[in-house]
Amino acid sequence: MELEVRDDGKESWEEVMLIYGAALKQINTKLQILSDEFQLVHRYNPIEHIKYRVKTPKSIVKKLQRHGYESTLSNMVKYCNDIAGIRIICDYVSDIYRIADMISNQSDIRVVGIKDYITNPKPSGYMSYHMIVLIPVYLSDRIVDTKVEIQIRTIAMDFWASLEHKIQYKFPGKVPEHIQEELYACAKMVSALDDRMLSLNDEIMAIAGEEMEEA
Ligand code: GTP
Ligand code: MG
Repeated sequence: MELEVRDDGKESWEEVMLIYGAALKQINTKLQILSDEFQLVHRYNPIEHIKYRVKTPKSIVKKLQRHGYESTLSNMVKYCNDIAGIRIICDYVSDIYRIADMISNQSDIRVVGIKDYITNPKPSGYMSYHMIVLIPVYLSDRIVDTKVEIQIRTIAMDFWASLEHKIQYKFPGKVPEHIQEELYACAKMVSALDDRMLSLNDEIMAIAGEEMEEA
């Protein structure tokens, strides 16, 4: 059953937050297991590192206001897809799709939304692969399918996104046009860098493969 709360219901803020926190722990463990298995089988790790967080009350309220909703527990559960958020950082663009496939193939995870900002970057230049998934959280008396936003991106994409985010913060109204243009140009450089790094890695892997065959 998907997480549903009524504002006159018995669920408290603490209970809802506990469920989101549990969903994050669950996904994180799953990813660690997949990563360990991948490392064992393929002798390399597609995951560089993982970060996760539960959204703060302040930013939940801000987001609901931005979308014109009242700050209620039920609106938060209904309209905030990213209360539980996990970010997976990897080395190469090809790893992103590999990880996304591994996640979709888990039988207890249901993918309810995908946004591929790598194939279709945002007008800002932002690149990342986003999945909204439902993962079961086992409580003492019920199982709650809980929404988690997963962002998967390369180290280079993450570098751009975190700097751009800080710049946006410095200009709460609107980022000056020339800065936006410069950020967009940087995003294109990030994309080109990722492409070159991937080709380089493919070449190195091919050479390493030949050497293995010769030995
Ligand atoms: P919100 O933007 O969070 O309201 O959600 P949405 O439904 O529009 O989803 P979207 O996929 O556009 O964004 C989800 C998340 O991706 C955001 O909360 C940010 O963490 C990140 N993101 C999206 N666009 C940008 C961007 O232009 N720059 C940066 N730095 N991060 C972005
Ligand atoms: Mg948005």
